[in-house]
Amino acid sequence: MSTDTSSIIEYRLTHEAWDGYEAFLKQLVIARGCRTICEIGGGANPALSLDFVQAHQLEYVIIDISAEELAKAPAGYRKRVQDVTQPLTGEEGTYDLVFSKMLAEHVSDPVMFHRNLHRLLRAGGAAFHFFPTLYSPPFVLNLLLPERLAYFILNRVQSGREKGGRKGKFPAFYRWCRGPLPGQFRRLESIGFRVVRYLGFFGHSGYYQKVPWIKRGHESLCQWLQRHPIPWLTSFAYVVVEKP
Ligand SMILES: C[S@@+](CC[C@H](N)C(=O)[O-])C[C@H]1O[C@@H](n2cnc3c(N)ncnc32)[C@H](O)[C@@H]1O
Repeated sequence: MSTDTSSIIEYRLTHEAWDGYEAFLKQLVIARGCRTICEIGGGANPALSLDFVQAHQLEYVIIDISAEELAKAPAGYRKRVQDVTQPLTGEEGTYDLVFSKMLAEHVSDPVMFHRNLHRLLRAGGAAFHFFPTLYSPPFVLNLLLPERLAYFILNRVQSGREKGGRKGKFPAFYRWCRGPLPGQFRRLESIGFRVVRYLGFFGHSGYYQKVPWIKRGHESLCQWLQRHPIPWLTSFAYVVVEKP
């Protein structure tokens, strides 16, 4: 790892990842003066509203493998059906920002995925990804157990928005989905990126709403982890990389 990571890595709690996502993304767009933006795997829920796109005069394209998912997104967005694990041609060096939210864990070929994004970016452009990480217990369960068993167990304890770890609709592989570990920096640098921020988030308390004593213990553990971070145990991450 060639980067000094002390000013790049931060640890927070998972609710901040969800509650702060929109503000973080918009701040990235505004602070970097982005005009051309591509969301990968935006599917039915594009992350930027049409109002924001129009107010900031953005060229905003949503790529998704599924025409069915894209069709559910509101009219007015520019949409393109494409598999980002297949070599992309055209639009090299076009975008100021490419980003994904809850897509990276579904990517079977992370090398091709990140190479494609590197190719789409102009020099100096940035990529931002928000994804769940191993070795958070619910995602380990989701990865290892047969779908119906994982769903049964998670459904016993969980409620709320973190639901959705089911493999059925979008299979999850969690490849290159880790907290801010040296190996992650090496992988992203091997593509040609420079890592500029890596935020690891502890906790998955949404899973324990139905079991208050586990929820309380879990919250105490997460606060301890924030003070004494173990990057293997994050549940989610934001990573921002730059194409030099
Ligand atoms: C869990 S959904 C997330 C959708 C949206 N970003 C959100 O946060 O609500 C994952 C999306 O990634 C898309 N997807 C999965 N694999 C893909 C691939 N190889 N290339 C492009 N899109 C993909 C799926 O079709 C789906 O729309």
